[in-house]
Amino acid sequence: MKKRVILAYSGGLDTSIIVRWLTEKGYEVITYTADVGQGEELGEIPQKAKNAGAIEAIVEDLKETFAENYCLPTLRALALYEGKYPLTAALSRPLIAERLVYYAEKFKADYVAHGSTGKGNDQVRFELSVWALNPDIEVLAPVREWEFRSREEQVEYARKFNIPVKATKEKPYSIDRNLWGVSIECGPLEDPWQEPPEDAYQITNPPEKAPDEPEYITVGFKEGKPVSLNGETYEEQHKLIQKLNEIGGRHGAGRIDMVENRLVGIKSREIYEAPGAMILYEAYRDLLSLVLDRFTFHYFLTHIPHEYAKLVYEGLWFTPLREALDAFTGEIAKLATGEVRIKLYKGSIQVVGRRSPNSLYVEELATYSEKDQFDQIAGKHFTKVWGLPLKVLGRVKRKK
Ligand code: ARG
Repeated sequence: MKKRVILAYSGGLDTSIIVRWLTEKGYEVITYTADVGQGEELGEIPQKAKNAGAIEAIVEDLKETFAENYCLPTLRALALYEGKYPLTAALSRPLIAERLVYYAEKFKADYVAHGSTGKGNDQVRFELSVWALNPDIEVLAPVREWEFRSREEQVEYARKFNIPVKATKEKPYSIDRNLWGVSIECGPLEDPWQEPPEDAYQITNPPEKAPDEPEYITVGFKEGKPVSLNGETYEEQHKLIQKLNEIGGRHGAGRIDMVENRLVGIKSREIYEAPGAMILYEAYRDLLSLVLDRFTFHYFLTHIPHEYAKLVYEGLWFTPLREALDAFTGEIAKLATGEVRIKLYKGSIQVVGRRSPNSLYVEELATYSEKDQFDQIAGKHFTKVWGLPLKVLGRVKRKK
């Protein structure tokens, strides 16, 4: 019996070559393609896959699953890898892996395959996720071991097997795009001192060419879930995110340029565009600052965003740790109902207003006007007790 493999297939040249290569190696290839909001027409994918040698091609719309089950928990954790990267590419891998395993079981395949290289993070994310879900499935990564030494050799191979190679001059970038944002690397970006060329950016206007008038938007949350934009309710999360990408992108918002630490020890320069995600992060953080008491808010900020980002980045999605952190942020999210007003202008995302039925802001306590109800004498006694350790310290120091 032929060995059967489910391949994560983008429809691009690289994964088409993989279909052929695996077929030549004696595998029966079934391709799997997910729509996670990469903004491409997927209608021709099955034909492309079959032309390359696949016996079957699956295409699935996962936009809402991705938004609900992956983007939303990450937003609730305010997770940013190394303080900057909203994990766009990293988040789609466990979801795709989950579906690969599902179809491997359904079609009785012992193998799944992906097109990631041996230098990146994605191989780790794919493989750890697959093993967590089904440790008996073997993962193949042809790019790590095939014989091609250059782009030219791959193109030659593609031509030999009638895999269409676009005549248009290819952009030098490697781009991964989904609903949550775009990741761009390679080419001129490999010089970390050089400003990214404008043609590297895919979904955002350059801030200097963004509208000269600021735009105000209001994002509504219900129990930690973004549900409305400017008063209009969105039943589907992914549509709201897409709308925010469009508006934010117009204003040049959500561009990120960073050098990051990959899992395999390499530092890499990468740029990201995540207007929708960054708008939601700013909004959600601000809403939490209004509805959480100081103790809970500080605990959250100290312990969750960095840890959550690391686990997503490092391929640990399918762990009890992630589930436990989701339980924590889910508990907090119950309080996060309200609206946040945001001003978008020339690349900046600025929160300018917030309100909530759960707001802990008490004007009579905060005000410096005659409405003030705060007991200032209590402040005197509080300061005395709070400052006692420093008084003791000072005394001992001066004695020496
Ligand atoms: N560096 C990012 C990560 O590891 C993005 C990698 C995605 N690939 C790309 N072609 N930019 O999550």
